[in-house]
Amino acid sequence: MPEFPGKAEAVPVRPIVVYPSPILTTPCKSVEGVDDDLRQLVADMIETMHAAPGVGLAANQIGDDRRVIVVDLSAGEEEGQSLVLINPEILEVGGHENGEEGCLSFPGLVEFIERPLTIRYRAMDLEWKVVEAEAEGFLARVICHEVDHVNGIVFHDRMSPLKRKFALKKIERLRRQGEWPDWEESQQRA
Ligand code: NI
Repeated sequence: MPEFPGKAEAVPVRPIVVYPSPILTTPCKSVEGVDDDLRQLVADMIETMHAAPGVGLAANQIGDDRRVIVVDLSAGEEEGQSLVLINPEILEVGGHENGEEGCLSFPGLVEFIERPLTIRYRAMDLEWKVVEAEAEGFLARVICHEVDHVNGIVFHDRMSPLKRKFALKKIERLRRQGEWPDWEESQQRA
């Protein structure tokens, strides 16, 4: 399940911005090219994703509004598995599949979300070359989830209205009980 934090005590290298921070619901800006600053952002994102641990992360989840996502289905268990996609876009989708998803910006929440079974996507890589590829199943799900993030879409936007209502109610209850991180604080730290 994307980004689902398995170890609550793990400390990511960059604090993760939590819902309802507005940076999570605002579309990110296109990247114009690769420089040291972007390379640093990507390195921080990969380290943060692995530390969480998670299988995907978008830049706005660590408070940066550039269109960058990282994906690693091994969650850092295997070397060299991190996929870096800059200005990613989904070109084509095929089929659909219901599956469990979590999100580091929604700590503890796991929901069934319908996603395409197959996708074709395009992005720039760190060498600033165009990458065009296909993905299916869980990889397609994670890429869709992260591309949604840089488009300002969070995972409950993909739920049916009834499920969304329940999910938001649950978050409200957790916030009232003080069991949900303070989004303003999370954004300041990021
Ligand atoms: Ni997420």
